[in-house]
Amino acid sequence: MGDKIILGIESSCDDTSAAVFKNNINLSNVIASQKVHQAYGGVVPELASRAHQQNIVPVVHQALKEARLQLNDLDAIAYTKGPGLLGSLLVGASFAKSLAYALNIPLIEVNHMQAHILAHFIDDEIQKAPDFPFLGVTISGGHTQIVKVKHYFDMEVIGETLDDAIGEAYDKCGKMLGLDYPAGPQIDQLARLGNPHQFQFSKPKVSDLNFSFSGLKTAVLYFLQREHQKNSAFIQENLNDICASFQYTVVQILMDKIFKAVKQTGIKNVAIGGGVSANSAIRKALLQAEEKGKIRAFIPKFEYCTDNAGMIAVVGYYSLLQNRKANTPTGAKARLHL
Ligand code: KG4
Ligand code: ZN
Repeated sequence: MGDKIILGIESSCDDTSAAVFKNNINLSNVIASQKVHQAYGGVVPELASRAHQQNIVPVVHQALKEARLQLNDLDAIAYTKGPGLLGSLLVGASFAKSLAYALNIPLIEVNHMQAHILAHFIDDEIQKAPDFPFLGVTISGGHTQIVKVKHYFDMEVIGETLDDAIGEAYDKCGKMLGLDYPAGPQIDQLARLGNPHQFQFSKPKVSDLNFSFSGLKTAVLYFLQREHQKNSAFIQENLNDICASFQYTVVQILMDKIFKAVKQTGIKNVAIGGGVSANSAIRKALLQAEEKGKIRAFIPKFEYCTDNAGMIAVVGYYSLLQNRKANTPTGAKARLHL
């Protein structure tokens, strides 16, 4: 296969993104994040799809401009088929389908969860990419999954959340503390100045490799209500310690499952992705585990951790290499398994 220029399109949640790749090399990766949801403390699906409609054309234009290419230079278009918010997915799917049809080039449907994992194979990351097999750990506002990755397109989910995603736990807990959405980065910052052992929150009892975060959220809520009755300034006076103790519990829950997965599969390569992998305590815990020889940690550039079209384009490239094109594309699917 000769060089291929691929346009990637991502619109599964609240980021509209377009990327232009030459094979697995990033020529541009443009992301328009939607600010409209901040006032609501979470993503509002109807507003998200409307914002995608406004953003999609300018974002694709910008991606082509930054890559110094034009529409007729494209060899293929890869788009996120799912999982995600249906209204949001449909905007990217219809745009990608129409453009591929008009340009008469192949259209490639991409599974968003697979893309988070294959983001480790983007050009600037490739030197540091894990060897197969590895454990892909995707942690974000919408996902919490441990995936056994045997090859590019041979993946098996071995653990996932039964309720809230890990980032959702951060965001909901942050809301209770009066923090703005998304609260994850703020909790991370505030926790640095707090004592992680000041307050104890019980960990959920979930067998196997699955996760549960809704119990922790409820535990934090009851704890805050109880303390508020005794002292109405409790949150203000203890914000750093509450954040540090909450974060300590979350990191323990995550690391326990990672170690369990390593033991169960015998695979030591652990590659993380998703917006929550920006978390400083999680990074520290992974690197400490690596120093102790328990795992080998792979952490991509932050640009490739959060939702972005670069990871969609790179899946497009590996799909073309393996001749995996969408023969009869079915559009968008809110629930799409690996
Ligand atoms: O991958 P992402 O940009 O979007 C999706 O949810 O798919 O991830 C956003 C999530 C939010 O829940 C945000 O609070 C969380 O990632 N997040 C963090 C940090 N940075 C972002 N959570 C904890 N610590 C951080 N430093
Ligand atoms: Zn995502």
